[in-house]
Amino acid sequence: MSLGQGLAFTLNGRTLSAAEGSIASPSMRLLDLLRLQAGFTGTKEGCGEGECGACAVLVDGELVNSCLVPVGQLHGRSVTSIEGLPRTDPLVEGFARAGATQCGICTPGMVLAARALLDRRPDPSLDEVREALAGNLCRCTGYARIYSAVLDAAAGVRPPVEGGT
Ligand code: FES
Ligand code: FES
Repeated sequence: MSLGQGLAFTLNGRTLSAAEGSIASPSMRLLDLLRLQAGFTGTKEGCGEGECGACAVLVDGELVNSCLVPVGQLHGRSVTSIEGLPRTDPLVEGFARAGATQCGICTPGMVLAARALLDRRPDPSLDEVREALAGNLCRCTGYARIYSAVLDAAAGVRPPVEGGT
């Protein structure tokens, strides 16, 4: 068996492997595997150059830009896209209720960046939220509602459906 055929990793709890044909090529971008092969289209492509965070996913709990990662680098690792986040995650409801989403292109990456933050720092300050989300660009919201959603999720607060900035 060649090294490429031995390639396998976990995506949202399911094992993908080159040997079984669920990984087409080790040189394929993780972003393309997610969207074109696995059907997880929640992950978005913005810049395609590692600058915007729209394609961000978690690899072993760390935020990575999937447009920069060839799947050949993922052997034995665990990938979580937005579809792999439990619907009960307080960030999911927090973003919706705070009105932290407009066009939605940035939202999956923002939510996963926030999840990575809260997993290592459950009670972050506003500055820590800003820093953690600095690699995720949003052209629509002005960020205030996004930061509010993350802080409220961390605090276990249910933000109002309307109002706020
Ligand atoms: Fe990957 Fe912009 S699409 S960082
Ligand atoms: Fe449109 Fe953030 S909601 S880019």
